[in-house]
Amino acid sequence: MENSKQKIVLTGFMGVGKSSVARHLAYLLGCQQIDLDDFIVNQERQEIAQILQSVGERRFRQIETENLRKLLQANDAPILSLGGGTWTIAENRRLIKTYNFTSIWLESSFEHCWQNIKFSKKERPLAKNKTAARFLFAEREKIYCLADWHFIVRPGFTSFDTAKLIAEEVFCKI
Ligand code: S3P
Repeated sequence: MENSKQKIVLTGFMGVGKSSVARHLAYLLGCQQIDLDDFIVNQERQEIAQILQSVGERRFRQIETENLRKLLQANDAPILSLGGGTWTIAENRRLIKTYNFTSIWLESSFEHCWQNIKFSKKERPLAKNKTAARFLFAEREKIYCLADWHFIVRPGFTSFDTAKLIAEEVFCKI
């Protein structure tokens, strides 16, 4: 695949920094990026937390898959940041592959993600407390592992540092 045609999705646990890495990466590469959660909020005219609370996780996952499909089909942006649960759904992984997107797992420690979740303005009903979040984290690691590339977000690393690393290694730029 030519680097200029490279298309990627960023996955990883809540709070790892997918959206901000995606923004920095788009800036470094001079291309568009779209955040799946933002896209859903726009389409559904409701915040993610409200959707989850009103229709439940099962229906939310269907809405998420429908919107992921729309985004992949539209091919408007080569960089997509997913929600933390998107990649855990087999149908979503299949779609991502079908549309020739390369998957990148932003890996970090649970504590690092939890600190970001705790201090973030974003409401995350599936990580209401540390025990629930830790359980999800442990359950999902083996699925995130299926991504094509893994990048470890080390303590002290900024989102910009991670984006630079991805630009160098995956896109061979900078
Ligand atoms: C979720 C992660 C959230 C959001 C929703 C569900 C999850 O996105 O999609 O609350 O299941 O991990 P972030 O990973 O951007 O927080």
